[in-house]
Amino acid sequence: MQEQLFQKKIDAEQKIEPKDWMPDGYRSHLIRQISQHAHSEIIGMQPEGNWITRAPSLRAKMILLAKVQDEAGHGLYLYSACETLGISRDELNSQLHQGKAKYSSIFNYPTLSWADMGAIGWLVDGAAIVNQVSLQKTSYGPYSRGMVKICKEESFHQRQGYEIMSEMANGTKEQKEMAQDALNRFWWPSIMMFGPHDSDSPRTGNAMKWKIKRKTNDELRQDFIDKTVAQAELIGLKIPDPDLKWNEERSSYDFGEINWDEFWGVVNGNGPCNEQRLNHHIKAHEDGEWVRKAAKAYAEKQNS
Ligand code: 3HC
Repeated sequence: MQEQLFQKKIDAEQKIEPKDWMPDGYRSHLIRQISQHAHSEIIGMQPEGNWITRAPSLRAKMILLAKVQDEAGHGLYLYSACETLGISRDELNSQLHQGKAKYSSIFNYPTLSWADMGAIGWLVDGAAIVNQVSLQKTSYGPYSRGMVKICKEESFHQRQGYEIMSEMANGTKEQKEMAQDALNRFWWPSIMMFGPHDSDSPRTGNAMKWKIKRKTNDELRQDFIDKTVAQAELIGLKIPDPDLKWNEERSSYDFGEINWDEFWGVVNGNGPCNEQRLNHHIKAHEDGEWVRKAAKAYAEKQNS
């Protein structure tokens, strides 16, 4: 009976709030997705953080600093939304450290040149915008409201990345080559961010039934590709997919087959930077133990 009432609320587009009854499956699905989303925001600070001290100008450094700081805030919103489902931050971090929880595959690739900062902002945040704008309508209240807040900042992230790519693509021959090289290395990993094909996506069924997802992996991937191809052409860069072709009938781009062996290899921990990213997170967490202890002691003293 409760299950039916719950589904009726979902079907009537009512938000589910922390104190509402919800099926265990809905709760665990959300904990899984929101925690991995939060982990992605925090781990995603590493590849970009790598270039803060190497930024080519003070302006570039300030913009990148602001963006990386935003990602920490996005992680905070999402961990807080996840905690409303009855799991602690410590438990979430321990699941990540033990390899029981994932984070987005895209952050397991190295950032080899300044142009990668452009490719990440333009493509990774561009892909995240497509995914997150859709998630603003997710059925779980705290997640949906967190998405609304996060989306307001994402467009700045995408624009600053595209500005870097545009300047370099219109710069010297070497700069244009760097921009094209970054696009070549980040294009396919960016479209892998949307997950497996719907037919291979074990979670999509429930995600759509419970309106956790409002669009499927393939629908969002297609939206992203259709939006991004023209942006590449506008700045004279070439998308590294020989099968990319406008399909008049579908009013969308046809594109080549994704390398799913690479995708699952990275998702399962065997990407170029998985070990480095996780070890860095574990070390930072351990180094920060004293800060958490001091903050907790201060709060307890205040409340005593
Ligand atoms: N990287 C890592 N794992 C992935 C993945 C990816 N790109 N795509 C799918 N997976 C995992 C899923 O988590 C799931 O694993 P699990 O069952 O152990 O949790 C498994 O592969 C099967 O995939 P499904 O499609 O069945 O899983 P979902 O229905 O959860 O769809 C998703 C995957 C589209 C990533 C969905 O979880 C989602 O929309 N998550 C929220 C958005 C998110 O996490 N974005 C990550 C980037 S955040 C970011 O870029 C921030 C920006 O500011 C930089």
